[in-house]
Amino acid sequence: MLYQKSIKNLQKIIQKKFFHLGIFLTILLSIILFRVALSQQPVTLNMLITAPDAEPWKQGLIKDFEAENPGIRINLVEGPNATNLLEDLYTSSFILGESPYDLVNMDVIWTSKFAAAKWLLPLDDRISKEELAAFSPKDVEGGRYQGKLYRIPMRSDVGMLYYREDLLKEAGLQPPETFEDLMQISQTLQKKNKVNWGYVWQGRQYEGLVAMFVEVLNGFGGFWVNPDTLEVGLDRPETLRAIEFLRSTISQGVSPPGVTTYQEEDTRRLFQSGQVAFLRSWPYAWPLAQAKDSPIQGKIAIKPMVHAPGKTGAACLGGWGIGIAKSSKHSQEAWKAIQYFTSEKAQQRFILSAGYVPSRRDLFTNPEIVAKYSHYPQLLQVVDNAVLRSPIAQYAQTSDILQRYLSAALSNRMNPEQAMKAAANETRRLLEAGRKR
Ligand code: GLC
Repeated sequence: MLYQKSIKNLQKIIQKKFFHLGIFLTILLSIILFRVALSQQPVTLNMLITAPDAEPWKQGLIKDFEAENPGIRINLVEGPNATNLLEDLYTSSFILGESPYDLVNMDVIWTSKFAAAKWLLPLDDRISKEELAAFSPKDVEGGRYQGKLYRIPMRSDVGMLYYREDLLKEAGLQPPETFEDLMQISQTLQKKNKVNWGYVWQGRQYEGLVAMFVEVLNGFGGFWVNPDTLEVGLDRPETLRAIEFLRSTISQGVSPPGVTTYQEEDTRRLFQSGQVAFLRSWPYAWPLAQAKDSPIQGKIAIKPMVHAPGKTGAACLGGWGIGIAKSSKHSQEAWKAIQYFTSEKAQQRFILSAGYVPSRRDLFTNPEIVAKYSHYPQLLQVVDNAVLRSPIAQYAQTSDILQRYLSAALSNRMNPEQAMKAAANETRRLLEAGRKR
């Protein structure tokens, strides 16, 4: 009896033990499965981008990257078109803290400010000198601040002069070399009623105005801020000549009065409608103007910007690159994305679809690219000689000062000489204060 009882007790104990062991194993297994599920959840990388720039990304570039990297998702947040407004959004997200952005899609002029504010991770350890050598040196330089690299160039950009080759040929005219040629050809074609307007440029008070102006200013032999000495050239005679040229395009009826409110897309649409002889724009306008449904398809050509006699034409260096937000929790994944989006394969793809300028030198002579854009081999020279907007930490404020006074001078709200004196002095005070700090 006693023996049977002890057996039963033993059975009960064993059953109980196994029951507890079962529960324990079930919980352990659930935890493991939960962890595995969590680790397999894709990481989402957020990036803010201007709405028109988002298009080529959405056309397959992101899909291909995600297919190759199943653990990573890219979430594009589409922002306003003007680069300075996009910069404001990034800036406020970093200042307020808890920025949602992992990848920072940066205009070439933002690096110094963002790096000085310590919003970006340095990337020097992640990329070798040999890998960097494949990119145009000026595009790489645009990603450095105080010797450290913060941005990998995804694409370059240079301001160019578009013109109606068909109309010039028909009239027996050579493409313009100087500002004066541009005015004369415009007026000739306008008089013949071939076009309503001679020339359109970006005149609104925003960053595009400054990029356009840097070209005219350099074409007259002037300068804005010397990044090494911080000397300011805004109140020099060359600057006033540059402003006078732009004002004359309006006063002589070559440019529409509304040009002082135009951004890139306003000017591109007007040129594309067939009403204009010359356009200052970036290379993105080429495939759009040459599209099947474009009234000027097959009728245009592109050349470096005109200049004053004895000077050389200048292209403003633009371009976009990607950095990693210091606050991002996914810097490894962000770097993978940067490697992919700046790779030769990815660049070739979005250049063919969007007409952007490569940051990788080999692509300027890539047969597929040259077959579509025959002007690309020459574009490399333009990139190499392009003018940088001063890479200084106070760039955004410096640009804001110029935008305000230049816009006032161009739209007759201020006398150009007074406007530029004020702009030069305000810029000097700003840079002096920066020096003391
Ligand atoms: C283009 C350029 C950029 C420039 C902007 C001005 O996007 O790539 O560098 O600041 O135009 O509108």
